[in-house]
Amino acid sequence: MLILGGGYTAETATAAIDERRADLIAFGRRFLANPDLPARLRARRPLADADPATFYGGGAEGYTDYPTDSDA
Ligand SMILES: Cc1cc2nc3c(=O)[nH]c(=O)nc-3n(C[C@H](O)[C@H](O)[C@H](O)COP(=O)(O)O)c2cc1C
Repeated sequence: MLILGGGYTAETATAAIDERRADLIAFGRRFLANPDLPARLRARRPLADADPATFYGGGAEGYTDYPTDSDA
């Protein structure tokens, strides 16, 4: 089982799986900004960008407060 991660988009992740370069793709920042990331990817809905200003801040802001599509 090989899991790759780091800078993947829906398109590059799909290509890596289709071309058998990876078994799974890990998402970091995309998951912060899109708590419903699997649903958004499946539906090919647009992804929100994470705000780097809130990374490593020590609080909940930017970690657990991004809306899902259904919150919008
Ligand atoms: C705010 C933030 C916190 C992170 N914390 C950790 C961590 O605790 N341990 C870890 O191994 N990687 C951590 N990472 C790195 C991510 O797991 C991931 O490798 C990195 O974000 C690259 O993947 P991405 O391009 O999908 O975001 C963190 C990244 C971010 C942005």
